[in-house]
Amino acid sequence: MKKKTIETKVSVLSFDELEISQKKLIDKAKEQVSKAYAPYSGFHVGAAIELENGEVFAGSNQENSAYPSGLCAERVAMFYANAQYPNVPVNTIAIVAFNNGKFIEEPVTPCGACRQVLLESEMRFEKDINILLYGTNEIYLIENVRQLLPLCFEKSSLNA
Ligand code: THU
Repeated sequence: MKKKTIETKVSVLSFDELEISQKKLIDKAKEQVSKAYAPYSGFHVGAAIELENGEVFAGSNQENSAYPSGLCAERVAMFYANAQYPNVPVNTIAIVAFNNGKFIEEPVTPCGACRQVLLESEMRFEKDINILLYGTNEIYLIENVRQLLPLCFEKSSLNA
């Protein structure tokens, strides 16, 4: 039996080590957590997206009493950005989470469904999306969505 090992490359950074544009995007995502509607989980998430044309769009998680009808911050932000600028690629997404009265210490990591949605945008424009995952202890910078979703299902899988 043959085995394959799949690696994910993650840069671990402090806030001070980030570029100004990355800091700004994290700050924007932080602002967004106060706009989350999360009465059921109490877990407030903010996501900010910078497009190639410099425009920034942000979103927060939106919950619902019918739980599966709610949506994560990442997808709210991504669909919002893609709906406004359907032909402009995404440069970077920053994601932060606030729980129990503070920003979480370890970087927040997007759920599987959000990874799939981010991947679609990356594939659609054939341009890497940088992902900034914020924690107060450290920040992860991941170069593209494929790193986050190995063995993914995508458009070319439909022709297999
Ligand atoms: N959530 C996000 O918005 N993004 C994530 O990356 C993880 C989870 C939301 C979904 C739900 O409203 C709450 O956080 C708890 O899962």
